[in-house]
Amino acid sequence: MTQDDDTEGRATHRQLPLIRVAVLALVVSSAVVLFHRSALGPVLVVTVVFLLGCLSLSRNTPVPRLDVGSRKRQAPLWPDSGAKSVVEAMAEPAFMIDRNLLLRFQNGVSERVFGAMALGDAISLRFRSPELIAAIETSVREGRIGFAALIEGRSAERSWSVDILPVPVPKSGEPSFFLLLFRDRTAERRIEQMRTDFIANASHELRTPLASLMGFIETLQGPARDDATARLRFLDIMRDQAARMSRLIDDLLSLSRIEMKRHVPVDHVVDLGEILEEVCEALAPLAEETGIEIVCETASGPFEVAGERDELVQVFANLVENACKYGDGGGRVVITMGETRERDRLFRDVAIRDFGPGIPPEHVPRLTERFYRVDVGSSRGKRGTGLGLSIVRNILVRHRARLIIQSVVGEGSTFTARFPAISTPA
Ligand SMILES: Nc1ncnc2c1ncn2[C@@H]1O[C@H](COP(=O)(O)OP(=O)(O)OP(=O)(O)O)[C@@H](O)[C@H]1O
Ligand SMILES: [Mg+2]
Repeated sequence: MTQDDDTEGRATHRQLPLIRVAVLALVVSSAVVLFHRSALGPVLVVTVVFLLGCLSLSRNTPVPRLDVGSRKRQAPLWPDSGAKSVVEAMAEPAFMIDRNLLLRFQNGVSERVFGAMALGDAISLRFRSPELIAAIETSVREGRIGFAALIEGRSAERSWSVDILPVPVPKSGEPSFFLLLFRDRTAERRIEQMRTDFIANASHELRTPLASLMGFIETLQGPARDDATARLRFLDIMRDQAARMSRLIDDLLSLSRIEMKRHVPVDHVVDLGEILEEVCEALAPLAEETGIEIVCETASGPFEVAGERDELVQVFANLVENACKYGDGGGRVVITMGETRERDRLFRDVAIRDFGPGIPPEHVPRLTERFYRVDVGSSRGKRGTGLGLSIVRNILVRHRARLIIQSVVGEGSTFTARFPAISTPA
């Protein structure tokens, strides 16, 4: 029963004797008028009876109460089980607190993510962020919706946005309860970070050859204006720098195209043996230049997978080119094909092995990141943009295939593309 109900009930009870007294006074005065036919007598009697009635009221005598509560729905002790069920059903962590910032309810998701709190504990015991607590205090003070950002965890950081929502409670004036609704923003923040890094990297990669071009142009306009030998040498360098910029733009476009198509399934069947022979032929000049022999041990029959021909040419061209460029000193690059069974599923593998210096283990997991290079100077010297393996990974994702990198420092590296075998109808 709320205070409102109680006051209303009492007021009704107090009015009852008044009515009774008035009726009684009316009856008595009518009787007196009838029998004595005098005007003063009844007035006196009515006044005395009325005063006696009022006296009995002021003595606070117990009055039988009207059963108002049984007709009115009782106002709930909040949060009631209905409200709790709604908060419990939320897919995101949610806490219900009161105006003193004490916990009234938390849902199961919040227990799993942030741990269970005791009811009645201050929310600041679990969340120490001064910004979050200040935002909650402001919302409570002003009875308005609030918002805060929260970063939790040291090693595996998670970002949250927190909505602070005043909850309207039936029959209460200002909101007595506030819902803290947490939304996980970790993935969005990571994407945002990647986007920022990507733009920073891309502009840096373009700025370097551009600065070099500007430098040579100024030299040719100034001190080397009449130096024919220097002019020819500088023009050669300028052409290389311009070619590098153009390669970078091509790679960026290629990456963005393949990223857009990542989730479009491939519906052609291609023979990997044919593709590899084409790639080896195209890279023969590079192999010769780097003193590498490419040994292509392709299968005798067709070696088919579901794939997009041009995209797979790009994959193997990059892997074989890398093996020639970074596996120098190893003398050869060996390309093999084979089948692997993993948990009852058949896969078709193409492995590209070099016998170069290998890759230190701490770099291996990061090689497919955009612009990641083990040795930036050496990669640039070899006309690398650092986007090749990122393109490879994205193309393989589209083909439901994986890139497996194994490397031993001093012995060389093997890059294996593992494709799901085409299932033949039974
Ligand atoms: N076979 C390999 N042996 C040693 N290091 C390798 C090998 N393949 C790749 N790497 C390392 O991985 C880095 C990333 O390769 P990736 O193909 O993405 O870029 P890149 O070759 O530098 O440039 P791009 O392929 O865009 O021209 C290379 O810079 C190199 O440091
Ligand atoms: Mg490459």
